[in-house]
Amino acid sequence: MAGVVDTLDQLDELLSCRLDAGRKVVQPCAIVIFGASGDLTARKLVPALYRLHLEKQLPDPFRIVGVARRPKTDAAWREELLQDWRKNARAGDLNDANWEAFAANVSYCQGEFSDPAAYRKLRDQLAGFGQEALRRHLVFYLATSPSQFAPVAAQLHDSGLLLKDESAGFEQKLVVEKPFGHDLVSARKLNQDLARVAHEKQIYRIDHYLGKETVQNILMFRFSNSVFEQLWTRQSVDHVQITVSETLGVGGRGGYYEEAGALRDMVQNHLLQVLALITMEPPVSLEAECIRDEKVKLLKSIRSYGPAQVSAFAVRGQYAAGEIDGQPVAGYRQEARVSPDSNTETFVALRLLVDNWRWSGVPFYLRTGKRLPLNSSEVRVQFRPTPNVLFAAQCGPRLDANSITLRLQPHEGISLRFNGKAPGITMEIRPVRMQFDYEAEFGAYTPEAYQRLLLDVIAGDSTLFIRSDEVEAAWSIVDPVRQAWAGQPLGAAEFYPAGMWGPAAADDLLARLGHKWRMTQSGPPAAGDANEKL
Ligand code: BG6
Repeated sequence: MAGVVDTLDQLDELLSCRLDAGRKVVQPCAIVIFGASGDLTARKLVPALYRLHLEKQLPDPFRIVGVARRPKTDAAWREELLQDWRKNARAGDLNDANWEAFAANVSYCQGEFSDPAAYRKLRDQLAGFGQEALRRHLVFYLATSPSQFAPVAAQLHDSGLLLKDESAGFEQKLVVEKPFGHDLVSARKLNQDLARVAHEKQIYRIDHYLGKETVQNILMFRFSNSVFEQLWTRQSVDHVQITVSETLGVGGRGGYYEEAGALRDMVQNHLLQVLALITMEPPVSLEAECIRDEKVKLLKSIRSYGPAQVSAFAVRGQYAAGEIDGQPVAGYRQEARVSPDSNTETFVALRLLVDNWRWSGVPFYLRTGKRLPLNSSEVRVQFRPTPNVLFAAQCGPRLDANSITLRLQPHEGISLRFNGKAPGITMEIRPVRMQFDYEAEFGAYTPEAYQRLLLDVIAGDSTLFIRSDEVEAAWSIVDPVRQAWAGQPLGAAEFYPAGMWGPAAADDLLARLGHKWRMTQSGPPAAGDANEKL
């Protein structure tokens, strides 16, 4: 048996095809993080950089400089990062000697973001690294509050650290975190402000969903297989459901979330990006611009609604006190730094239509929320039922229609659901599933989204980042919804108890067209649950 398995593994090896041979090599660089004391730096950026170092993926040499307001020595910042890293690192990564080797490249630069002196100091610090590359090839990561994005970029430019100079190969790069603007007008303004000091090729707008393995896999799944893509049209697809649900509440992020709400925090970026990848046309090539062109085209073909029509296509909700995993949890209005009469939405469900040849008439349902029953992100492509003859004529609606579910996280994988005969002398049809499970196929480890994204920035590959016109197209979709909700207090029916799937109106949104939210729960079925009708 082992021999057969070995042979199959060898065959898979022979058939696997590396696409990154032409990928640019990472050149020595300095990564400058503005917002060095922030949560993102501690929880995501530094652990991702550490991991890349461990895997020998970072260039040699490299440096990391943290910029923030509070006075601190290099040693003090390293010590803070070490404490945070101990909390956030994967268990197998905790190795003090490796950390020391990494931390030797890390230093701190104290300064006010609005003070030109801070940028002079930074320049001197970079010059002190000695090597030409470490003061020229620079990645500026803006992990600051959004109001600082444009002023910091302008200061970097004025101080000569960020050059908009094609002849030098755009060696400096600007990484901008979300939220990118808070509506279309402000996003446009931010695009213009950044364009004054950096070329579009130097600007990397982050949507960390695009760095997730399963999200990257959407394009491979669709365009490296012939069987699925044939079905990916309005002729075969009945409707599509995209769910990103979280059990967590807003935690310590109440201040940010009050301004953002689920529409800006999740829909404008992560959900629309997933929708674009699921629905876009095949790009002309795998070049970054070709892929981004197709996503923009798709986003522009999503039907926009006037604020008066919004209530027919969009549902909002806010969590009230309830239970998660059997534990009582507070309502959103009771969270820290949240107004006790806040109308911010923590749940959104939308029905979108894509007005193009391929998707005309197919509803796309999107929903996301905090304090929902499960942590689960998935895309379910629900196919049309069979004609009402033979088995369908006898079973009626009890004959399940086929579906493909892409489980983005957790229990990453893909399942195909179809009907089969239950063994036995009776004639019984039931849904069964074919499963692809990442962990079973490739083992447990998948890199963090930020690892991939940081490496791409250093290498100058912008495929997984949002282009200026893309971010604006996404805002155009959510802006009317935002406008319709602004200033409208939440009604009693818009509150949902924590631990429930949002307000009842989210179910009605689908029921109007005879549809129902479906979840695969999280993960491959345990033996014997193939019959569950979910
Ligand atoms: C962030 C949002 O962009 O994505 C958070 O600001 C959300 O509110 C998070 O919790 C979800 O990301 P992930 O990778 O945990 O699915």
